[in-house]
Amino acid sequence: DSNQMWGGRFAEGPSAVMRVINASIPFDKRMWRQDIAGSKAHVAMLGKQGIVAAGDAQTIADGLDAVAVDYERDGVPEDLALEDIHMVTENALAEKIGAVAGRLHTARSRNDQVATDFKLWVRAAIDEVDAGLAALQTALLDRAEEHADSVMPGFTHLQSAQPVTLGHHLMAYHAMIARDRGRFRDARARLNQCPLGAAALAGTGFPIDREATAAALGFDGPTTNSLDSVSDRDFALEYLTAATQCSLHLSRLAEEFVIWASQPFGFVSLSDQWSTGSSIMPQKRNPDAAELVRGHAGRIMGCMTGLMMTMKGLPLAYSKDMQDDKPPVFEAHDLFGLTIAAMTGMVESATFRTERMRALAESGFATATDLADWLVREAGLPFREAHHVTGRAVKAAEDAGVRLDQLPLETLRAIDDRIGEGVYDVLSVDASVNSRRSFGGTAPERVREAIAAARRENG
Ligand code: ARG
Repeated sequence: DSNQMWGGRFAEGPSAVMRVINASIPFDKRMWRQDIAGSKAHVAMLGKQGIVAAGDAQTIADGLDAVAVDYERDGVPEDLALEDIHMVTENALAEKIGAVAGRLHTARSRNDQVATDFKLWVRAAIDEVDAGLAALQTALLDRAEEHADSVMPGFTHLQSAQPVTLGHHLMAYHAMIARDRGRFRDARARLNQCPLGAAALAGTGFPIDREATAAALGFDGPTTNSLDSVSDRDFALEYLTAATQCSLHLSRLAEEFVIWASQPFGFVSLSDQWSTGSSIMPQKRNPDAAELVRGHAGRIMGCMTGLMMTMKGLPLAYSKDMQDDKPPVFEAHDLFGLTIAAMTGMVESATFRTERMRALAESGFATATDLADWLVREAGLPFREAHHVTGRAVKAAEDAGVRLDQLPLETLRAIDDRIGEGVYDVLSVDASVNSRRSFGGTAPERVREAIAAARRENG
């Protein structure tokens, strides 16, 4: 038989497959709290405006509260014939209060209803993400402070480049996440306009008060164009792009942990809580959590591109394709929440092998730039010439199997007799990092300043 919500003009019911392909209740039931909040705001406004009698509005509001109690206790019934959370809830309401439930849908459509529910859901998701990222930043700040003086090789091309401190390196990720949080903040501010009252696409002839429903739901105001209101999913895409970009940062840190945890590097030992063993090789201690953070970033990006594909060819206003907006956002949010939490746990509990980092920083001729800079500063060579002289010194050290600061002065003077005793002051890794005091540089005092500034900003 035909659908009880919209079946008036139908003689036959949907095919079995149609029932399944059409239904979103299996996933959109996740928005039941937002759906009930939206309906309560709507019916309160209908009552106040005299569109529905005050007594009926109260009956409906109480009925919605009772439905919420049922949902909380028993879960949301997955009735595919009722299609989605909106009709499942209206049906549950009718079972409680009878025919007066049918007045709730006055001056509204599922098109503005679903846009409102989904915006409320994404807004809450952004707040959750922000709290998670704040905790990750705190973990990074704590570890950075602990290691403001710990010297490690800084890399370009994954080749030893110049010594940096581990604190400085960790603070680089803090800076990335600060930008990510900014993107989520921007997205939240932009999404905070209420579509409710756009109705199906054209607005409504009923004397509704959109300011009132917007305020009741914590929006800054109503959306301005009814067509855009029901066809806009920018807020979902902005959530996904911000999540993608952030998960890309987490993936880079995860990749560094994977590299650092390898035996040839030996920079970090991830805690037992975030490692796994091998079923065949007893010695193994695998960085699975880091690998999954790296892997999940790809899936999150897949969710983003998926929804972009869904949206890109749709004419105004609502099309049913848009029902496919929720699974990628829900999936990405779940994956993203896990990766933020796992990364926070790994950062908090990792043991950094600082002796090993220092040894590698010392062995890679990482202070070669300091030697060249010294030749410019103390001996007046043009940088290009100093670069060449230093290259010869590196070759001599490599041939002799020693570090730069272990080359005897005679050897250095044989390369260029303008080199003097004072050069040894700059050839140690500590001297190198301490000298890099330019704003944003790796000198421990600068790193400590950056940490203090970040703590002030985070509040
Ligand atoms: N379940 C739909 C969605 O998630 C909302 C219903 C709109 N349906 C319609 N026939 N206009 O997008």
